[in-house]
Amino acid sequence: MSTFLWGTATAAYQIEGAVAEDGRGPSIWDTFTHEPGRVRDGHTGDVACDHYHRTAEDIALMSGLGVNAYRFSISWPRVQPGGLTNEKGLGFYDRLVDDLLAEGITPVPTLFHWDLPQELQDEGGWMNRDISGKFADYAAIVAHRLADRVETWITLNEPFVHMAFGYALGVHAPGQSLLLDALPTAHHQLLAHGLATQALRAAGAREILISNNCTPVWPASGSPEDLAAAEAYDTLHNRLFNDPILTGAYPDLSAFGKDAPQDGLDVISTPIDGLGVNYYNPTRIAAPRQDAFPFDDAGVTGYPTTAFGWPVVPDGLHELLTGLKRRYGRRLPPVYVTENGCSQPDSVSPDGTVDDPERIAFLDGHLAALQRARRDGVDVRGYFVWSLLDNFEWAEGYHQRFGLVHVDFETLRRTPKSSYHWLKDYLGHQ
Ligand code: FCB
Repeated sequence: MSTFLWGTATAAYQIEGAVAEDGRGPSIWDTFTHEPGRVRDGHTGDVACDHYHRTAEDIALMSGLGVNAYRFSISWPRVQPGGLTNEKGLGFYDRLVDDLLAEGITPVPTLFHWDLPQELQDEGGWMNRDISGKFADYAAIVAHRLADRVETWITLNEPFVHMAFGYALGVHAPGQSLLLDALPTAHHQLLAHGLATQALRAAGAREILISNNCTPVWPASGSPEDLAAAEAYDTLHNRLFNDPILTGAYPDLSAFGKDAPQDGLDVISTPIDGLGVNYYNPTRIAAPRQDAFPFDDAGVTGYPTTAFGWPVVPDGLHELLTGLKRRYGRRLPPVYVTENGCSQPDSVSPDGTVDDPERIAFLDGHLAALQRARRDGVDVRGYFVWSLLDNFEWAEGYHQRFGLVHVDFETLRRTPKSSYHWLKDYLGHQ
């Protein structure tokens, strides 16, 4: 039995900064953040946490915390700007991997966490099927360099969120509002995942995962209309991205007036070694009031909320994990919770400490739910807190603080919060 991975998670654009250094090319997030009105208060990831220059300090924070794993993402435009391999970009991740291993921390890289090279967006981004093959070429380049030391790989982060926010609703890069016409980006990301899985394995990768954002879907009532709407939402958010990989077939998309693609399913269903699950909250769904989508978000009420306004429902993690087991049975590979966490309005108090009791309660509740799901027979092999550091939270800029470590974005000073000390103690007892 392999060791349970206890880790923290981050993503390149959210923490690295150094956007024009060592040959990195522009990504869709560089373009998007510099367009007026896209991100709250015009924040950008130009500097972010300056992790690119502070990796030693950030690794020391992780070893102080006592985690044995670190999920980070590799910036495609750093490694392959303009389609050409950039030795300096690869070198950065090569050193990061060595430095993590030297501290006994297992590196778990994600190959795509939304920062598509801008020149690929100029060719249509994920609306263009050819990007899938280009992603596999990039995956092979990274794997040839790192697979001698990196065992566990994640292909994509949350293809649902990238499709929905980036291409359907326009609130994330690349800022397109295609509504249901964004659906091809699901198929092309899934093809990219399958092709990359094959390329990674050919280059010696041992364990390959995808991180899907998953949500338990609660119908707003027992009415047939609300039940049908909830089923449609479950199809779009969860099954569209899990079914083809785990069962080799798309769910029925007729509620969306679409035929599911029939090609490439053999590639998409290339066996994986684990399913990464990112969990934040359940979703409550009602029948639609207007007709853009066959459902409406009715909002979960009656629970505490985070600074983002997201409901805090620890039992939702148990419901999600046991629900996956029920739905996929023996087809469900081992599960890794690759993101879970909350934003809170944390600040440094005059005595220099950061007290975040809500985050401690959040972690305590979710870890209990996770352990309960394991006892109930779900083969969970890892848990990663989002996030190590406060960082650039996409359309919210620096306004949502998800870190176990507070970052002062003026001075870039890092201060471990009380949740960091709490988790250190928890991990000491595992
Ligand atoms: C997830 C993203 C991650 C972070 C958290 C709060 O959807 O994968 O980058 O923004 O939400």
